[in-house]
Amino acid sequence: MLAIDLKGKRALVAGVADDAGFGFAIAKALAEADASIVLGTWPPAMNIFETLLRRGKIDESRKLSDGRMLEFEKIYPLDAAFDTMADVPEEIRNNKRYTERGDFSVQGMADSIRKDFGDKAIDVVVHSLANGPEVKKPLLETSRSGYLAAVSVSAYSLVSLLQRLGPLMRPGSSAISLTYMASERVVPGYGGGMSSAKAALESDTRLLAYEAGRKLGIRVNTISAGPLASRAASAIGLIEKMVAYYKEHSPLAQELAAEEVGNVAAFLCSPLASGITGATVYVDKGYHSMGIPALPG
Ligand SMILES: NC(=O)c1ccc[n+]([C@@H]2O[C@H](COP(=O)([O-])OP(=O)(O)OC[C@H]3O[C@@H](n4cnc5c(N)ncnc54)[C@H](O)[C@@H]3O)[C@@H](O)[C@H]2O)c1
Repeated sequence: MLAIDLKGKRALVAGVADDAGFGFAIAKALAEADASIVLGTWPPAMNIFETLLRRGKIDESRKLSDGRMLEFEKIYPLDAAFDTMADVPEEIRNNKRYTERGDFSVQGMADSIRKDFGDKAIDVVVHSLANGPEVKKPLLETSRSGYLAAVSVSAYSLVSLLQRLGPLMRPGSSAISLTYMASERVVPGYGGGMSSAKAALESDTRLLAYEAGRKLGIRVNTISAGPLASRAASAIGLIEKMVAYYKEHSPLAQELAAEEVGNVAAFLCSPLASGITGATVYVDKGYHSMGIPALPG
C-alpha cells in the first residue's frame, strides 16, 4: 500500500489560531500521517486560541480518524512581521497581548525551537498566514505603508522563516505556503497589495526552492487554494459570494473542503513528493483552468 507516513517527523505550522482555516486542516492532515505538530500563532489571537483549546471548544475538529486527538507539542508566539525583537515598535512591545509572550519574532521562535528540540528539529515548515491591513481598498487607493505591510507579513515572512528555520531542518525537509490565484488574474476586491504579495510569494517559492534545494536539500512549494470561509477570508467581506461563485463555475461543481488542501499539503511534505519543488499546485476544484464562466445547463 502506498501511504503517507510522516512518523518521527516534526512540522511547524505557522498561522493557526482556530479550527476554521487551512493551517488547522494542514496540521490535522500531517498528524493523520503521524507527524508531531508545533504551531506558531499570532500573539493577538493566542489568548482566544488557548481558551478554545482549554475549554474543549474545538475537540470535535481535533479528532483524528483513528480516535486519537490532534495534539500540539508546543504553541509558540509568532508575529511574522518581525525578524528580531529589535524590529518591534514600542507600541506593539508594550501592548498587553504581546508583553506576556516573550520573544515573538521569527528569530525568537527559531531559538525556542532549537532550545526545546535541538539543532535538527524540524522536517516540515508550513506558512499559512497572511495579513493586508488595506485588503478592502482597491490597489489604486492603497497607501505605500499598507502595500508594504501586506508584502511584509504575507510574502517576506516566508523568506524570513526559511532563513531562520532552514538550519534547523533535517535533510529531505520541505516547506509549503498558501497562495491565491489573485496573484496572476484579476480578482476584484482582493486589494491592498494582497494580490502583489501573493505574486511575490509564488515567485519567491521558485527562487527559494532553487537556493534552499542547493544549499540545504529542502523542497519549497506553494498551494494555490480556492476560497474557504476562514476567519481571515471572512474579514475581506466577499468570501460567501466567492465560495458560491467557484462552486457554480468550477470544473468540479462543489465547495472546496479545507481537508482537501490538508491532504495535498501532507503529500507535498512527504517523501512521495520528493521530485516536486518550486511548484505552485492548484487545489481549487479546477477553477484556475476556466477561461469564461461555466455555461448554464
Ligand atoms: N481562505 C481563503 O479563501 C484562501 C484562499 C487561498 C489562499 N489562502 C491563504 O491561506 C493562508 C491561511 O489563511 P486562511 O484563509 O486559512 O485563514 P486563517 O485565519 O485560518 O489563517 C491566517 C492566519 O494568519 C495569522 N496572522 C495574521 N497576521 C499574522 C502575523 N503578523 N504573524 C503571524 N501570524 C499572522 C492569523 O492569526 C491567522 O491564524 C493565507 O496565506 C491565505 O492568504 C486563503
